[in-house]
Amino acid sequence: MTDSNQASLSAHDRLFKLGDADSYNEVVDLFDKYTEQVTQHLPAPMMAMADVTPSQHILDIGTGTGIVALEVARKLGEQGKVVGIDLSDGMLATAKRKADKEKLAAKAEFLKMDAEVLEFEDDSFDNVLSLYALRHFPNPEKAVAEMRRVLKPGGKAVIAVGSRPELFSRDGLAAVFRRLGSIGRRLTGRELAACDFLDELVNKHIPENANSETAEWTGHRHGFTGSVRDLLAAAGFTDINSSWRGQYSVFESPEAFWELQMTFSSLARKRIGQAEESAVNTLKQEFISTCEDVLARKGRLVYQSGAAIISAVKP
Ligand SMILES: C[S@@+](CC[C@H](N)C(=O)[O-])C[C@H]1O[C@@H](n2cnc3c(N)ncnc32)[C@H](O)[C@@H]1O
Repeated sequence: MTDSNQASLSAHDRLFKLGDADSYNEVVDLFDKYTEQVTQHLPAPMMAMADVTPSQHILDIGTGTGIVALEVARKLGEQGKVVGIDLSDGMLATAKRKADKEKLAAKAEFLKMDAEVLEFEDDSFDNVLSLYALRHFPNPEKAVAEMRRVLKPGGKAVIAVGSRPELFSRDGLAAVFRRLGSIGRRLTGRELAACDFLDELVNKHIPENANSETAEWTGHRHGFTGSVRDLLAAAGFTDINSSWRGQYSVFESPEAFWELQMTFSSLARKRIGQAEESAVNTLKQEFISTCEDVLARKGRLVYQSGAAIISAVKP
């Protein structure tokens, strides 16, 4: 971020963004490991919704360790180029290392930049993609306006956010039945679900501090498809479409279940990152022994996630 761009942000937003980026620096390797395991199914449908072709110039916003940008780079031809931007030095370093390892560095560039203040000319990209990042931005309307500005006319923004499926859909009804089964197992001590399980323990053992862990606009809302559609429409996008992808993983090891939640839950990652070691040890002991009790009852440690993928066209 340049100094003049930084100056245009409020002190609160600047602190929130730095805190968010820093919280990832400590856990990048684990983030990358679990992202490869549980998020690998999302770049392909996002690219399909964007109609990515081999010669395009693509921007990936909040690229993390590059799961979307690198998948795009694998599909690009000589003329194509993908740029991944993020504010976390740790995430960017890993993304670059992975690009080097796969000999994709000529097609995939990774830059430190704020999604709300993009440092690109107007009309620079054929498509803009962003996976699981929008809810990290304190001013999503600025990020969406920036996406529109840097897109060429006719280009698409494709944004994926964690979300339940819409209730009156096939996925929505299937989710209701799954949830009923899950509630039964939880009431009989035979299921723990990420990331609610760790979040509840963190709330019990580590008091909330003055800094909020999530962007205020996200509140405690779960149905994000509608809010992202509204943001895109308000920014002047047209042809807004959405689809939903679910994912269900069962973990055998309490330690892996801990690592996943410690990394993926913003609340857990940020509060544990700043807590006293003794508080974290007590919390982790309760976490592991509760998992072991559930496994001893032949129960499950479950990570269930869903992503709404919303696409929209810059007229
Ligand atoms: C949940 S991770 C998703 C990463 C990646 N897209 C994936 O799905 O694996 C969110 C990412 O957004 C980045 N991020 C948060 N605020 C940002 C901002 N204002 N500008 C750019 N990136 C940001 C974080 O550093 C983090 O890498």
